[in-house]
This record gives sequence, C-alpha cells and structure tokens, in this order.
Amino acid sequence: MSYRNLCAAAVVAVVCAAGARGQAPNAPWMNTALSPDRRADLLQAQMTEAEELTLVRGYFGMDITINPKFPPPPEAILKALPHSAGYIPGIPRLGIPAQIETDASLGVANGRHMRPGDQATALPASILTASTWNPDLAYRTGAMLGTEVRDKGFNVLLNGGVDLARDPRNGRNFEYAGEDPLLAGMIVGATIRGAQDQHIISTAKHYAVNDQETGRNWLSADLNEAAMRESDLLAFEIAIERGKPGSIMCAYNHVNGVYSCENDFLLNKVLKGDWGYPGYVMSDWGGVHSTVEAANNGLDQESAYIFDKNDYFGDALKQAVADGKVPAARLHDMVHRILRSMFANGLFDDPVTPKPIDAKADAAVVQQDAEQGIVLLKNDAGLLPLGAKARSIAVIGGHADVGVLSGGGSSQVIPVGNKPSQEFLVGGAVRVLPDHGLIMPFDKMVYDPPSPLSAIRAEAPQARVRFDDGSDAAQAAALARSSDIAVVFVQQWLREGSDAPDLSLPGDQDALIAAVAAANPHTVVVLETGDPVVMPWLSQVGAVLEAWYPGQSGAKALARILFGKVNPSGRLPITFPQSVEQLPRPAIPGVDIAEPAAGWQDNPNLFDVDYNIEGANVGYKWFEAKNLTPLFPFGYGLAYTPVRYGGLTATAGASPTASFDIRNTGRRAGMGTAEVYATPPGGVARLVGWSKVDLKPGETRHATITIDPRLLATFDTTADVWRVAAGDYKIALGGSSTDISATATIHLEAGTIKP
Ligand code: BGC
Repeated sequence: MSYRNLCAAAVVAVVCAAGARGQAPNAPWMNTALSPDRRADLLQAQMTEAEELTLVRGYFGMDITINPKFPPPPEAILKALPHSAGYIPGIPRLGIPAQIETDASLGVANGRHMRPGDQATALPASILTASTWNPDLAYRTGAMLGTEVRDKGFNVLLNGGVDLARDPRNGRNFEYAGEDPLLAGMIVGATIRGAQDQHIISTAKHYAVNDQETGRNWLSADLNEAAMRESDLLAFEIAIERGKPGSIMCAYNHVNGVYSCENDFLLNKVLKGDWGYPGYVMSDWGGVHSTVEAANNGLDQESAYIFDKNDYFGDALKQAVADGKVPAARLHDMVHRILRSMFANGLFDDPVTPKPIDAKADAAVVQQDAEQGIVLLKNDAGLLPLGAKARSIAVIGGHADVGVLSGGGSSQVIPVGNKPSQEFLVGGAVRVLPDHGLIMPFDKMVYDPPSPLSAIRAEAPQARVRFDDGSDAAQAAALARSSDIAVVFVQQWLREGSDAPDLSLPGDQDALIAAVAAANPHTVVVLETGDPVVMPWLSQVGAVLEAWYPGQSGAKALARILFGKVNPSGRLPITFPQSVEQLPRPAIPGVDIAEPAAGWQDNPNLFDVDYNIEGANVGYKWFEAKNLTPLFPFGYGLAYTPVRYGGLTATAGASPTASFDIRNTGRRAGMGTAEVYATPPGGVARLVGWSKVDLKPGETRHATITIDPRLLATFDTTADVWRVAAGDYKIALGGSSTDISATATIHLEAGTIKP
C-alpha cells in the first residue's frame, strides 16, 4: 500500500486544477445561468464513448490488491488515488473534475488508512444525531462535515444512511437514524442538505432494506410493496425530497430476490420513475453482479470495481453497448445523471481546494450535537445533575480514563490530534464475522479522547474523582462504597459487517453494574452503545444516560450533562425492547448460514429475511400492534425540568394540522419536544410531526405542525397511489410514543396522493 495522496501532493495541484477548474472555462457548459441538465447536455455533446465509459466505473481509493485477477490500475490512476473510499478519474480535456469519494457517517473517514498528519473531526454516530430530534442541528452537523470533506480534498461524501432500524441488533444502526420513516427522513435529509450546501455531492444509502449486517451479501429482504412504500422506502423518499442527494448508493442485499443494484423495481420504477429522481445510482463496494441487468435496471456507476467479481462496467459494458444489449442511450443517460449531479452540486463551479480543517469550529458543532443527542433514561429522586453535593466520585469501567467508544467499519474516524500509534485498541469485539477481511482497521475499537474521567474532573474541581477500570467487580464496588457517587461506563461495540448477537451488554458489564449499585445506590450508568440494550440492573441504579457513540466532544458533553450545565433533551429514535422475544424475529435470520467459499463476491440468495412479519409496523408500531410493553419506548427521554404538553387542537383537510402548547413548569431552562402521533381508522399510531423548542423556566410556547398526508395513508399498489381512507383519525400529543397527554379527533374524506 502506498502513502501517496493526490490532493496533498504537488501532483494533485496539477490534476485537481486541470480536472476541477477545467481547461474549458469559457465552454458553454460552464454558463452557470443554465440548468444542470442543459449544462450536462452541452458537455455530453462533446464526449466520446470512451470518455463516457470513464465516468461510470470507479477505482478503489487505495492501491491494494483485492482480487489478483484484476491488473493494477494505470500508473497515472495509482498516483491519483486519494487513499480513501473511491476515485473516478476526471477528463481534463473537457474540464471534468475527478470524483474523489470519502466515507462518511462518523466524520471524514480515515480509519482504513490514516496518513501522517491526517486530521478529522470525530462526529457522534448518526443515531445520536437522530436522538436530537433537531433537523436544524442535523443540518449544521452536515454542513460541518461537508466543509471538512472539501478541506480534505474530497468532493463526494458517502454519507446519508437512512435504512430503518427493523432489528435493534443491526450492527450498523449507529450509522442510521432510527426506526421511524419521518424522523429518519427529516434528520438524514437535513444532514445531506447541510453537506451539499458546501458544494459537494452526498449520497443517501443503502438503497434499500439493508436492515441487518448478518449475511448482508447473501440475504434477500422480503417485504411486500405496500409495506415497503410505507416504511423503508418512505424514509428514503423523505430524505431525498429534503436533501436532494446527488447520488443514491444501492445496497448489498437482494430485495424480494433481486440484487438491489440491479433491481428494476427499486431503481427504475420507484426511484427514477415515481419519485422522478434526477441524480445517479452508485453501487455499494462489491454490490454489482452483472453488466447488462445492472445497467438496464438502473445502476449508473460501478463503484470500486475491484470489489466485484468481474469488471462489469469496464470492457464488458463497452461490449454490451456495441452489441446493443445495453442501448447507447442508456449509457448516455448514466453519464447525464452523473454530470447533472456534478453541475447541480458545484463540482465544476467551486472545485475543492485542500486546506487544514477548522478543528476548533468543527468541535463546537459536534459538541452541540452530542449535548442534544444524549438521552436521559432514568433519574430517580433528582440524582442528576450532580452539582456540588458530589464530594467524591468513583468513575468506573468502559476505558473512561481514555476516551469514549466509537463504531467500527468503513465510517471509522481516528480523531483530531491522534496518530495511528496512539489508537487505543482493545479486544473482545462483539462478534467478528467474515467480512472483506483485508482492511484491518475495520476491526479496531477506537476511543475518541478526551477521557470522561478528565472531563468529569474539569467539571468538578471540588470533588475527589477516582478511577477503577471495572475489571474486578468487587474492587470497583469497594471504590463505589467509599464514594458519594459512582458513575459506571459500559459499552457495546458495533461495526459494519456484523450484528450484535443479542440485546445484552457484552461480557460481565451487567454484573459490574449490579455490584457497584449494591455498594452505592447513587449509581449513574452511562451507556456507550450503538443499539438498544436490556438493563437487568435498572431498578437498582439511580440514573441512566444513553450516550451512544458521542464522538470527540462526547466526554465534555457528558460531563456538562452530569453536572447540569446542559439540560438533557435527547429522545430515543428507536424502541428499547425488554427481550429478544418481543421482536418480530427473536433470532437473527441467517446467523447459522456459512459464507460461500468464494466470499462476498459470489453471493447467491442464500436465505430470506421475512420482513412481512411486521410489514410497515416497524419498531414502536409493532409494539403497539402486538400490545407489548417495551423497556423504553420510541420518543422517550427525560430532562432536568418538567415539561408539559397541552392545548391540542387539530384541523382536517388535504394538509391536516395540529396545534399545541409546550410548557416548562420547572425552575431550570431547557428544551422540550412535543411529539404528535396520528392513528388512522383500524391502524396503529404513526409519528406525524414534532416540535423541539427552547423554554425558559415557566415559559409556554405554542407550535403548529402540518401533517404530510402520506403519513396517514396506505399505498395502493394497483393504482400506484397513496390512499387516505375516509374516517376518524386520532391525533395524540405527548412526550413519547406511549406517554400521551392530550388527544383530538379529525375526520378525513377519502383522498389520493400521487407518489
Ligand atoms: C459500505 C458503504 C461504504 C463503502 C465504501 C461499504 O462496505 O457498505 O457504506 O460507503 O463500503 O467504503
């Protein structure tokens, strides 16, 4: 593996400048008054077929051998590789910039290979951003990320994970935005918009129903069309409407027996047809399985072809076009979509110029994100905030003397100020399943400094703060016994490519908490997890915070919440079940199925995941339909100040509304989130809107939301329309999906909405 970096070295200046700014500044397609489509047309009129083929096939961003049957890329390409996810060469003759791709959800990823001097801000996990229930903050987080993408010399960001959390053990839920299509679509859409407003392309991914990691290359996600439209596809639809991503990444899995990246229904019918999506579809790395089917069924760009079994969009596509198996017009359409997105997102007009990131400004954004996304799950007798009453504090476990945990996989970030040699790595992964197996950092546990221990000491200079690593429960309990307060840090490490085996904290962490809580009832548990976990010790502890993977400002945000400088306002974007028995599939499908000898490149449909069990009733909707009581419901989260919701009125019509009051009845300023659910006749409640507001002590704020009628409808697959049924709809207002303080009824006439 070489250590070259095109956009940091002298050679980059030549290629980037020639490729990006263009040698054709006066060319007609550089007229910014024209539409992106017109500009793409004008440019395409000058392109040869060989040039068109260049744009539809990507290189892996690093010069490593994945499949020896592929010859190494030409020397000029090798020199240009950005040492990241992917690279599609530009065409200097026409001033077409290279597409330089980077992951993504935890920051500008550098976990695969960190170059000396590399700097990136480690973001909180996307599930934490979803827990903020704050699309404005998600926008600012996306904008910060987009700025770093540019500063680091990239112009395509592989962010925008919006697959629904159908399984609370999914190893990538931390990269997604929870179980509800409206919340996920709004948060991810805002993140995409923030990033793209910095003149780069972002994706939405992984399209579609990529809802578990176990056997992700070999499973078929089976779900009937109506349910899919009302759940997973609706999340994409909303995210795409809000964010207008330049690209959509199709997924590894089959959907109803057909690979996502050659799925005519998903790509041609729904995405490009019904939704009128004008951008391009790129494959996930290793997600292509054919030339003719993939091209004709809607794939526009093969990413990092060396991950695929064959070089499908290389010479094979050229031949297929020559043979008429892929119409020349289709190749033209693929290229048009790519160029159109490049024009629409400023890749021609505002080329990236690498420069140092503004680490301080970026840290402030991620701190706000963490402060609003950490969820207070329990707080008995006002144990939190700690304040001056805590004279001695025991900080226990979870490597809290080092940093906060982050997630693993392609999104991994080694944060600002760290050299690879300083990575803090510990063993004991939840479960390591066969994966690409070539890229070791995928499997490393990375802790983002600073440590919670130092952050707590900084917030409580008056207190005696002592640390125990938690490896010996009796010793940890002894420290807790001799302290006023015990704060126990526990963790669940998740990574791309595998799922959590169950809902339990790994190892002996439950026993550690129980021992500490028995020694000191003033025990606070801080969860650093990527998924919900069960809490057999819940009744014994005084307080619980779900911090997810809170990123490089996580320790500071946690300490500020613990000591009351920040009033927590996070809400769960995912239901916490009491046990796996409450899930639609108590066992993870495919967990016992052996990987084919040929690995991920040869991926027949080995098993099916039956999502028709719950259909569109994902998460809290399933719990209501089955009359199950969760451990913590969707939308739940406490604050240090009591917030009340009332004064609900609702109007009917084509765009129904709900108006209500949110009142801070306490003596502390904070944020309150009023959640609105609607129940169609004979159905279960669905989130239809919310309002998160700042409230001074005693303050009441009035809010009105407009309800998207698709959220009240069912999808009629025969007529291809959303149908709102005539009848009475219950509108409910509250502080979570199960904590309802006011209801109203509206009567709606039957209606249809075109997708
Ligand atoms: C992941 C994608 C990622 C891609 C490029 C794949 O393994 O599924 O999310 O963007 O790699 O790194």
